[in-house]
Amino acid sequence: MTAGAIDLSVQIGALTLANPVSTASGTYGKGLEFQPFYDVSRLGSVVVKTITTEARAGNPPPRLAELPGGLLNSIGLPNPGVEAYIETYLPKLRSLGSPLIINIAGHSVDDFGVLAARFAREDGIAAFELNMSCPNVASGLDYSTQPKVARQVLERVRGETDLPLIAKLSPNVTDIRPIGEAVVEGGADAISAINTLVGMLVDWRRRRPVLGRGYGGVSGPCIKPIALRMVRLLFETVDVPIVGIGGIQDADDAMDFLVAGASVIQVGTANYYRPTAALDILEGLPERIAALGATSVREIVGTLQMP
Ligand SMILES: Cc1cc2nc3c(=O)[nH]c(=O)nc-3n(C[C@H](O)[C@H](O)[C@H](O)COP(=O)(O)O)c2cc1C
Repeated sequence: MTAGAIDLSVQIGALTLANPVSTASGTYGKGLEFQPFYDVSRLGSVVVKTITTEARAGNPPPRLAELPGGLLNSIGLPNPGVEAYIETYLPKLRSLGSPLIINIAGHSVDDFGVLAARFAREDGIAAFELNMSCPNVASGLDYSTQPKVARQVLERVRGETDLPLIAKLSPNVTDIRPIGEAVVEGGADAISAINTLVGMLVDWRRRRPVLGRGYGGVSGPCIKPIALRMVRLLFETVDVPIVGIGGIQDADDAMDFLVAGASVIQVGTANYYRPTAALDILEGLPERIAALGATSVREIVGTLQMP
């Protein structure tokens, strides 16, 4: 079987994506910074940094620290707010040529609906990803740690738009499955897993946490095993596509997630140290799918054989 004959297209609700490779919110700049490195229109989709109703300055520095195999961040969702974003950035993002997934976070259930309603009036948006799982803002985790609230967020947004809704869940729970079931009941077309894991780094000499806010979120290759398990658990529990995120840095990582149950994968922290990571992954998929004797990515999703 030749790698050239591989069908990479995947489906999220009514949306068809040319391939499963996407970018993780907050790790891809404003979505425009990577164009000098490669033709971003080749990606299956692009997910932009979280947008909130009002402008946010973000958390006090330092906001980012390296650790073995990953990063700790407490960026805190700095963004210009929805109106300035639509005016300044959306027109440029429309010209990326890749389906644009807008990532939104409310500071209340109602706020998620307000944001979706505002964006739904604009052209050129392919889907929404609901950031229900930011560990770096007050109450950011509330929306994906309680099934009832998680369901309410989806119901509120569903009432505002027919665009595909992707619920981005937190790994900072005892069991991700009831949250996954709740968002699907609320109307989610897909689930993204995972956001960062809460953590902390300490500078013992100063007797201070390394990050300005104290706690932060861990990302990068060190969280991949945790993300893979959660993707698998969700795949076994819900009937919507899973978007796998967590430590994906090459095509083999991406294949691990696809086989475990992800239909789409997002590249996050790897963008920081290898700007071409997402494109390299895309180019590495066909030969790997062919090596499994398949002719499409859809054939291999979830085919992992658990003991
Ligand atoms: C610096 C940084 C900023 C992030 N900002 C956001 C954000 O604005 N919204 C969001 O939904 N996730 C955000 N995330 C989480 C990522 O999208 C992703 O879920 C997480 O980093 C795990 O993937 P990775 O290990 O490939 O980085 C951020 C992660 C990092 C490292």
